[in-house]
Amino acid sequence: MRRPLVMGNWKMNGRLESARALLAAVAAGAKGLASVEIVVCPPYPFLSLGAPQGIGLGAQNVAAQAEGAYTGEVSAAMLKDMACQFVIVGHSERRTLFGETNTAVAEKFAQVQAQGMIPVLCVGETADERDRGLTEKVIEEQIKAVVTAVGPAAFNRAVIAYEPVWAIGTGRAAAPADAQAVHHFIRSTVARTAAGAAASLRILYGGSVKAQNAPELFAQADIDGGLIGGAALNAQEFIGICRAADTKASKGS
Ligand code: PGA
Repeated sequence: MRRPLVMGNWKMNGRLESARALLAAVAAGAKGLASVEIVVCPPYPFLSLGAPQGIGLGAQNVAAQAEGAYTGEVSAAMLKDMACQFVIVGHSERRTLFGETNTAVAEKFAQVQAQGMIPVLCVGETADERDRGLTEKVIEEQIKAVVTAVGPAAFNRAVIAYEPVWAIGTGRAAAPADAQAVHHFIRSTVARTAAGAAASLRILYGGSVKAQNAPELFAQADIDGGLIGGAALNAQEFIGICRAADTKASKGS
């Protein structure tokens, strides 16, 4: 069985003191949630605070290059030094606001794996692409770009997050059955390109997950947890989401 994973993507929010307080509150709330794996992804400068005992640490982005004259970039090796275990690559905000292409995202994915960390590849369609019936095509291209760059073993040690762009930060989560259909498609696509990994690959749903809608989303067969934005900034809400994933795991569903 795949262990559920809930990751908090703090994006560019907070200050040093609020980051400290949020880490402490998440740590306190997570006590007793033994079945779910919980990871926080604070902004780069706050990675040095580390994650509390029992909570994993992730970064929100990474350079596509290993080292050198790339002003303002942060390498995978640096994130490894800060004790990151996970790195988000290809978040839709990076793709749309900062022009990251599938090729650049695949290079980042490779950098993360080269340092022994786990890339969390974000995939998902825009509202327009969904309306035009292109959801599967877009996602397949996003996955294939990684397989082309990294090889068929790409997803043996990775996480995929399905984040429909229209659901991010909008308060409009995908309907659980619709999300499940896409998660199933993602797992089949990985099975076609990298058979060994598909059954054990964790596929997270992201986009307006709250404590209230998490149980129904996580009850779906191919949804193995969540990548949480806005709700990750509120410890109580975030822990409510973690609890929903923990309940799924402890029920063995
Ligand atoms: P949201 O963001 O939970 O605020 O919709 C999700 C994400 O961007 O990962």
